[in-house]
Amino acid sequence: MILITGGAGFIGANFLLDWLTQSDEEVINLDVLSYAGNLENLVSLNDDKRHIFAQGDICDSTLTARLLTKYQPRAIINFAAESHVDRSIQDPEEFIQTNIVGTFRLLETTRAYWSTLENKAKQNFRFIHISTDEVYGSLASEDEAFDEDHRYEPNSPYSASKAASDHLIRAYYHTYGLPVLTTNCSNNYGPYQFPEKLIPLIIVNALAGKLLPVYGDGQQIRDWLYVKDHCAAIRLVLEAGTPGETYNIGGRNEKPNIDIVHTVCALLDTLYPRADDKRYQQQITFVTDRPGHDRRYAINSKKIERELGWKPIETFETGIHKTVRWYLDNQIWVRNVQSGTYRKWIDKNHKERAL
Ligand code: NAD
Ligand code: DAU
Repeated sequence: MILITGGAGFIGANFLLDWLTQSDEEVINLDVLSYAGNLENLVSLNDDKRHIFAQGDICDSTLTARLLTKYQPRAIINFAAESHVDRSIQDPEEFIQTNIVGTFRLLETTRAYWSTLENKAKQNFRFIHISTDEVYGSLASEDEAFDEDHRYEPNSPYSASKAASDHLIRAYYHTYGLPVLTTNCSNNYGPYQFPEKLIPLIIVNALAGKLLPVYGDGQQIRDWLYVKDHCAAIRLVLEAGTPGETYNIGGRNEKPNIDIVHTVCALLDTLYPRADDKRYQQQITFVTDRPGHDRRYAINSKKIERELGWKPIETFETGIHKTVRWYLDNQIWVRNVQSGTYRKWIDKNHKERAL
């Protein structure tokens, strides 16, 4: 069996759901259920004995040690993190705790467990750390996309905390020989993404008749990848990646934010026209920029394509269509995640942006 952390969040839940459609190997899912963790994402697994859920914190070494001893997983995939840049600007403490201290504690308990394994199991064991392209900083328009050798230049408390965790991962390979691998992926989108991130926020606000906040001039560029293509890449890294290596994963799909917002609005115009027949794009409003806002990210995925044969299946057109459709078809999920805490955060973030 394998152990994943953060499996009730956006990418972790997609990974888990895909894994269990393709394999009968059991998964222990350790998740603290922060505001971003939602068991409703996994409701289809309620009667599935292959999914073993454990509520808990990756910082809790006693708990993780107990889980490792009891279940003896052959691999760990660490999705658990605080993941939202705007929250890291407002309140960085939790990012240091989960992303740095949590990764460190998980590495330590993993190292202790791994050292007890017999030779073959020890050799075959894998620890995959899920990281981000944001650790590389920001690109100018003429710069080459980030490859695995690009230097680390994180600019937000979030990306700095992820960078620190990546360095710990690297150190555990070089110092202890722990078979770790790191993936650095670009912006994901798709089902179950919490509506504080750009694409789901735009869909949800559009449907609620609210303003669609675009930070600054809207010309910041992100490289968008459909979440299930990211999950397929992680499965390949687990099965065929080389310990000690890092793999960049991206969609070759750079787009300015304002284009993303226009695309979502146009899709909604077709799939769910406004009652007054006006266009959703009239809800767009430009608001105060994110402090230290990175201008451009772009990933060079040639290494994973060449070495592991990975390629994204979805184009942006097919992926965004599926995503908008999913949010339209799952409005109860949307309503349920918009709890009091969610509303408090949205009010705070946007009050300061004078929306
Ligand atoms: P998310 O915020 O949707 O989910 C994070 C999950 O981790 C939640 O279920 C939460 O409850 C859990 N968690 C948080 N703190 C925890 C702790 N201390 N112990 C146990 N569980 C904890 O995040 P996501 O978008 O699914 O991202 C998953 C991983 O992928 C993160 O490491 C993130 O840095 C990375 N990543 C995300 C993207 C993206 O576009 N979303 C892109 C590249 C990399
Ligand atoms: O690049 C990978 C990263 O992508 C991941 O590591 C992070 O976990 C993930 O949150 C994401 O970070 P971003 O900051 O790029 O994502 P976000 O959806 O918050 O913002 C995308 C872009 O849209 C960014 O340039 C800021 C802008 N934006 C965002 C929001 C929420 C807006 O213009 N308006 C908004 O309301």
